[in-house]
Amino acid sequence: MSKTALITGITGQDGAYLAEYLIKKGYIVHGIKRRSSLFNTDRIDHLYQAPTVENRNLILHYGDLTDSMNLTRIIGEVKPDEIYNLAAMSHVKVSFDTPEYTANADGLGTLRILEAVRLLELAKKTRIYQASTSELYGLVQEIPQKETTPFYPRSPYAVAKLYAYWITVNYREAYGMHASNGILFNHESPQRGETFVTRKVTRAVSRIALGMQKNIFLGNLSSKRDWGHAKDYVRAMYLILQQDQPDDYVIATGVTTTIRDFVSMAFSEIGATIEFRGSGVDEKGYLTGVERARFDTMVGGDYYEPFAARIGEVVVGVSKDYFRPTEVELLIGDSTKARTRLNWTPQYDLKGLCNDMMVSDIKLMKRETYLKDGGYRIMNYFE
Ligand code: NAP
Ligand code: GDD
Repeated sequence: MSKTALITGITGQDGAYLAEYLIKKGYIVHGIKRRSSLFNTDRIDHLYQAPTVENRNLILHYGDLTDSMNLTRIIGEVKPDEIYNLAAMSHVKVSFDTPEYTANADGLGTLRILEAVRLLELAKKTRIYQASTSELYGLVQEIPQKETTPFYPRSPYAVAKLYAYWITVNYREAYGMHASNGILFNHESPQRGETFVTRKVTRAVSRIALGMQKNIFLGNLSSKRDWGHAKDYVRAMYLILQQDQPDDYVIATGVTTTIRDFVSMAFSEIGATIEFRGSGVDEKGYLTGVERARFDTMVGGDYYEPFAARIGEVVVGVSKDYFRPTEVELLIGDSTKARTRLNWTPQYDLKGLCNDMMVSDIKLMKRETYLKDGGYRIMNYFE
């Protein structure tokens, strides 16, 4: 018998990778997606099956974490073996602009799922994964951060996720539910949302290489993150729910890097070197060189001359618009517990992750140039 999983946030980065992973394992996957005025299923289009297909292994439901009745109905109909609660307003800076909504979706949304499972008397059947976050550590009280490190959230997002973390623990203890928190450190991929810093950088560096934009403006270049690959991290989510006992686990690489160094890494993927000069909002990144062979391999010889002509120019700037009212300066995780108990080890290091994102974005941006040049019509003609 196939297992049934319900994924909230299936249209997001992690939801898409997890759906693919579980389908490959033979699961029937149900996903909750929000209604949107434009298609928002790009990340799962390759998995989509129309309702007319018999024996589907991917079934989508309209829903929203702010709507209890909708969640209760879907959970009651699907009666999943596993729920992965990945849906959230997940952008830390945006949470300062939409704090009430963030609390509702990210905090109370988790309660709605737990309570629906309890009221539907599925507590003994349905295992629950809660997408907790290293943002809980915020103003870090210990380096590196592990499961026992005290929390100190620094944004409306992190405070909402703090509620979600503890309500998950409480339902586990109060009702014996198999409910677990994955305390995941930052994880990225070619599918990462465009406004998170790594993707913003890999997209911009690709566009700068192709002559589509002159420079990129960022915020705090000195904050440090422990970045892993989303493909490795969804594997950890699955493993957490396969354990006999529910528990909470830190998932991290144990390596931390500044935003500034990530920018340099992205440029080095195309053979370019950058030098940062100045400080605070006056800091700038100058293009200081480019290695032709690497550039030609990664980007293409046609683009080399115009790019090399820019040596000496500013390609990275800082804007106060991208700073947060309160910042999380340093994250670095100790995932010993997950590595020993779950036998989880990441396969990607940061260089591999950055390469994966750069290769994908260069390809994507070339397609964008092609579309701008009228390629879209040509493509439609042939499709
Ligand atoms: P993401 O790409 O932003 O995806 C978020 C998903 O949640 C999207 O499918 C989004 O739908 C959906 N969503 C947002 N608000 C919703 C609502 N009110 N009702 C129903 N669905 C809603 O995030 P991600 O990077 O995949 O992260 C997955 C989860 O892990 C999130 O809970 C995030 O907070 C948490 N997390 C992420 C990281 C990380 O580094 N990526 C680290 C730790 C924890 P639309 O597509 O319609 O917007
Ligand atoms: N987004 C963004 N844009 N961040 C910037 C920029 C910029 O232009 N410039 C500097 N940064 C800095 C931020 O100030 C932060 O210190 C760091 O880059 C990472 O920012 P994000 O990529 O937006 O991620 P995050 O760490 O705030 O949050 C992500 O990871 C959390 C796990 O720690 C999100 O995925 C959260 O949902 C997740 O919980």
